[in-house]
Amino acid sequence: MSVIKAHIRAMSAYKPPLDGRNPDTNVLLDFNERTLPVSEKVQRALIDYIQSGRLQMYPAYGNIVELIANYAGVGVDQLMITNGSDQGIELVFRSVCGAGDKVVIPGPSFAMYSQCAKIENCSIVSPQYTREHGFPLQEVLDAIEPDVKVVVVSNPNNPCGTLLARDGVEAILKAASTHGNNAAVLVDECYFEYTQATVADLVAAYPNLIITRTFSKTWGIPSLRFGYIISCAENINALLNVRGPYDINQLAVVAVRAALENFSDVSSYIDEVMLRSKPVLEAFLDEQGIEYWPSSTNYIWTFPVGPEAVELALRAAGILVRPKADADGRLGLRITLGTLEQTKKAIEVLRVATAS
Ligand SMILES: Cc1ncc(COP(=O)(O)O)c(C=O)c1O
Repeated sequence: MSVIKAHIRAMSAYKPPLDGRNPDTNVLLDFNERTLPVSEKVQRALIDYIQSGRLQMYPAYGNIVELIANYAGVGVDQLMITNGSDQGIELVFRSVCGAGDKVVIPGPSFAMYSQCAKIENCSIVSPQYTREHGFPLQEVLDAIEPDVKVVVVSNPNNPCGTLLARDGVEAILKAASTHGNNAAVLVDECYFEYTQATVADLVAAYPNLIITRTFSKTWGIPSLRFGYIISCAENINALLNVRGPYDINQLAVVAVRAALENFSDVSSYIDEVMLRSKPVLEAFLDEQGIEYWPSSTNYIWTFPVGPEAVELALRAAGILVRPKADADGRLGLRITLGTLEQTKKAIEVLRVATAS
């Protein structure tokens, strides 16, 4: 008989399709990553640290929390660092939920939320996003009952790029904390730098608000695993009881410190993606009549005719995108926006592959 809990054995692993991703031979438009290497300054800081003879020491984080709190515009006691935002998401579910609790995860969405909910043996209610109406606000509000422990607002949502406006988030925060309800609202601001939309200023007003963010996407260091949580000081104190003292890699801290000092590199990349690349891909999709979900961030979920063949054509040209099915099982291709040049390269292939 297995020693592993039955519900854990019954799960399947979250396995993103990582095989064969080679930036030397491919344009990687499949993981919503930054498509350019990080700045020389960040690389230099990492090399210097490695050469400083300190890798044998356990991590020491210094004032990194203070630096990020200043960047995020919150108090030092309202923020903690995590091993990627995946760990932030996991900490929330571990700390808030128990077996049999209900959680509301609008779908389709990023796999980690339901993965973490399943680990805690929760039952998942999943109102669906639609292309026409975006976030299913009324259904989510209706689903919030006293047995609901977490409501997820992936803002913007992956894979559709939909952003729930601030008043919608506030309506959920209120519903989750009134009429006998006491649910945490997990607002995932993974793509914050692209949207510039945040509810970080609301953490003092709403003790049920927990925000996760990351340095994986815009900042370009998913390989080093660095994220952070913003919430009221009381929640941060409690969540720190669950996170390990060394969970965040020292090299990630070195890279983040250097990246924060060189924000202009990040902001010029954001401009390239949002102001140059994105309008060009949208104009092409409109011109060709290819359906897509309006996106507020650095990826677009597109629905060309014959998506499998289109994906293969892109792959043959060295361009990787991510197939993702919608609620009806209809396959779309989520295309990450990179530099204008990379986007134009993808468009060239798409033009031919979608013409037939
Ligand atoms: C919405 C969303 N949240 C969180 C993550 C995970 O980010 P991290 O690398 O910080 O764990 C992703 C990654 O794709 C994502 O799309």
